[in-house]
Amino acid sequence: MNILVTGGLGFIGSHTVVELTANNHEVIIVDNLSNSKIEVLDKLHQITGRRPAFHQIDVTDETQVEDIFLTHKIDGVIHFAGLKAVGESVSKPLEYYYNNLVSTMVLSKLCLKYDVGKFVFSSSATVYGDQPSPLKEEMALQKTTNPYGETKAISERILTDVSQANEGFSVSLLRYFNPVGAHESGLIGEDPHGIPNNLMPFVTKVAKGKLEGLSVFGNDYETVDGTGVRDYIHVMDLAEGHVKAIEKLSSGVNIYNLGTGRGISVLELVKAFMQVNHVEVPYEIVERRPGDVAICFADAGKAEEELGWKAKRSLEDMVRDAWKFEVNNS
Ligand code: NAD
Ligand code: UFG
Repeated sequence: MNILVTGGLGFIGSHTVVELTANNHEVIIVDNLSNSKIEVLDKLHQITGRRPAFHQIDVTDETQVEDIFLTHKIDGVIHFAGLKAVGESVSKPLEYYYNNLVSTMVLSKLCLKYDVGKFVFSSSATVYGDQPSPLKEEMALQKTTNPYGETKAISERILTDVSQANEGFSVSLLRYFNPVGAHESGLIGEDPHGIPNNLMPFVTKVAKGKLEGLSVFGNDYETVDGTGVRDYIHVMDLAEGHVKAIEKLSSGVNIYNLGTGRGISVLELVKAFMQVNHVEVPYEIVERRPGDVAICFADAGKAEEELGWKAKRSLEDMVRDAWKFEVNNS
């Protein structure tokens, strides 16, 4: 297939481009580089031996996106492009609603106009709100605690309504849990601007000595050791999930959790990181972070049953590959 990948130079998009190419799909990347670097294109070339088509455009700009639909024959869209910092979305709600919702509307509108019937969307486990894990696709969604989360819930709704109104337009809403790690080459990985908000990139920067110490947000949750529990998933497993999702897309609206089904605590992750990589990660316990839930992990059964996809990589793989990328790229 010829697949338009929006946000294809970002963290999850770039790893998915590697897997799509390995499975003989032609990839057309669009990205405005607001949270990625053009050098990723060279790295993708180095890893796959093929240079994907790339256009530096903004996916909220309908004229620019329409040019792509006119220039390339497109069979499907995987829409990663979006703003994703939860805290920033609280202080800049309009930027988040505009970027994340207009992009989804522009792309789905052009898919209808140019008869593109396959659409895969990056959603998030955040749409479940604070419900008991394991989280299942059929659970009712809860109001999220921040504008970022709302953009995911509203985009899901928009795509569902568009699909229900247009028989040939099928969508897959992929609810990611906590993507971490990097491609095993160490050439591409997670490279956030500024001080990372998320646990794994923070840990790698502390281990490298770029940040002084990790603050562990709370140790009084009802969990194995009191620290927050999440479903960390290797980004290459996630990438493989996207290939299956677009190749096996059934008609209508399809919703899948992409997680491992296993919860890991903050301290379990930090200890595995130190043990596997033989590095120190100094940490201290601080207050809980507002808005955090205690436990969040997937029921990953539906994706396995319907897509034949299952996360294969271990926590050791995740911490080793995340560290390899940090060491290679600093
Ligand atoms: P990322 O920031 O690394 O990648 C997003 C890419 O989209 C970046 O390269 C950025 O430059 C580009 N982009 C943003 N707005 C754009 C626009 N208007 N036009 C063109 N390009 C634009 O983020 P990621 O971690 O790879 O996340 C990809 C998607 O998955 C996002 O939609 C994110 O919300 C979602 N998601 C991520 C996580 C996570 O923990 N990383 C969890 C759940 C969902
Ligand atoms: N944590 C720390 N210290 C840090 C950073 C995080 O202790 O410096 C803890 C958090 O309290 C939480 C766990 O590490 O218990 C994971 O936190 P992250 O910020 O890495 O991830 P979240 O689960 O909060 O959120 C992530 C994405 C969201 C997405 C959500 C659900 O950042 O975009 O998963 O998919 F919505």
